[in-house]
Amino acid sequence: MRPDELPEYAALARHHAEIGARHLRDLYADDPDRAEQMAVWLDDLRFDYARHRVTDETVKLLAAFARARGVEDARAAMLRGDAINSTEGRAVLHTALRDPDGALGGLDDAARAEVAEERARMAAFVERVQQGEWLGHDGQSISDVVNLGIGGSDLGPAMVTEALAPDRRGPAVHFVSNVDGAHLHRTLHRLDPARTLFVVASKSFTTQETLTNARSARRWLLASGAGPRAVAKHFVALSTNEEGVRAFGIDPANMFRFWDWVGGRFSLWSVIGLPIALATSMQTFDELCAGAHAVDVHFRDAPLEENIPALMALLSWWYTEFFGVRAHAVLPYDQLLARLPAYLQQAEMESNGKRVTRDGAPVAGATCPVIFGEPGTNGQHAFYQLLHQGTQIIPADFLVAAEARHPLDHHHRLLLANCFAQAEALARGRTADEVRAGLGKEGEGLVAHRTFPGNRPSSLFLYRRLDAATLGKLIALYEHKIFVQGVLWGVNSFDQWGVELGKVLAKAIAPSLEPDAAVTVDDPSTAVAIDVVKAMRGERR
Ligand code: F6P
Repeated sequence: MRPDELPEYAALARHHAEIGARHLRDLYADDPDRAEQMAVWLDDLRFDYARHRVTDETVKLLAAFARARGVEDARAAMLRGDAINSTEGRAVLHTALRDPDGALGGLDDAARAEVAEERARMAAFVERVQQGEWLGHDGQSISDVVNLGIGGSDLGPAMVTEALAPDRRGPAVHFVSNVDGAHLHRTLHRLDPARTLFVVASKSFTTQETLTNARSARRWLLASGAGPRAVAKHFVALSTNEEGVRAFGIDPANMFRFWDWVGGRFSLWSVIGLPIALATSMQTFDELCAGAHAVDVHFRDAPLEENIPALMALLSWWYTEFFGVRAHAVLPYDQLLARLPAYLQQAEMESNGKRVTRDGAPVAGATCPVIFGEPGTNGQHAFYQLLHQGTQIIPADFLVAAEARHPLDHHHRLLLANCFAQAEALARGRTADEVRAGLGKEGEGLVAHRTFPGNRPSSLFLYRRLDAATLGKLIALYEHKIFVQGVLWGVNSFDQWGVELGKVLAKAIAPSLEPDAAVTVDDPSTAVAIDVVKAMRGERR
């Protein structure tokens, strides 16, 4: 059944007609306890949703709608390992990777033993590299690790490695994703081949960008004078595809495995997390996983009205469905989370950027909003103007720690002040009368320009400090938010057919770009563009 055919949807539509236009100032005036009450604690993380355009009644109605959409059954199906990725016939069990006791279910004993074995191999490898026991081809230890991967095989590990920089104990870890040679070239030119370890991360081991970078990296190593046997000392692979790894020339003994029930963008908990552990430690990686597991348990057990990921999803759905919202800002007041918006772009937009439901019918309304963001306070001096005074409503997530992980504490207090100020300004705004009071009569011409409408919603994620466990929690909260949103919209959040066409076309176009090749592409604009490139490069035939 379409979501908008449910009585619970009709109840929400009626409720929206009643309260949708109410200003947050009034909602606060009506309910003095709102700031205290509209929050959920999970250990030392507080999810505050008081600055949303909802009342307690809205939350009840949203939870009822979620139940009617089958969120609870879908959650159980995911955790027990049903093939909920229906278009690919796969289970979705990243939760099982961070569930050491198997409390959540989903995997049989044999699969759990495989997970434990890869984890143990990973730990032993990290130990050898960090202790200087894993040696390069000329007997030197490893000083630099270069992760070659893209999408889920890059964004998660890169984001986490940067976020946990204060926990760094191991070699320098670099991430090269783009097929643009500038990325690899600029990374390698400062490294010593004899002390560099490449981690080729690709679930499929067919991804053009990653394999192109891996081949060029191998040439770079060999060009330094290392013999072909050096490859075994300088390349390891993270993949589900043993054949592909072997065909590339990496010994499966140097391969760390994962499985098709781990989606690419949910894979940082698997061996795809190896660069995180190499940069920090296996203990830190375990803490990251433990944080995520705490969220998994919360997600499984908490009633939807107090379930943080469910609330995140429902609030987002409320705005998309009833307020015409099409974008969502992720605003970490935490420089260490600089890559979080990019990570969430893939996680959310690749998962829920869909236009048909599980059974192939068009979705009834809009799906995933555009996700974007930058760390505060940088974003304040860039795009916040639009958040405050633009014509569209863009809900925002503010994320900030009570304690910094650096010694410049006075900076941190300023950071906190800015974070709170922005959330307050978005919610309360500044009325024309307030502007007038500050400007005096001669300023009348500026009143409209200096008025802030306010009533712009946001969540505040406030946590003690950004340690590994907290980061694991934050990531898992978003993962489950994505899952719930997918159920609400009725889409399969775990496939990504939308990335295929471009890949196929790039393969077809590439031969025409060779210097002496005829241009054999069908699309007239592409053909002209290739001709122009060849002319510019002096390669016109
Ligand atoms: O962009 C499509 C995609 O398949 C992503 O879903 C995935 O994370 C990325 O490519 C990389 O894939 P792989 O790990 O197989 O190289």
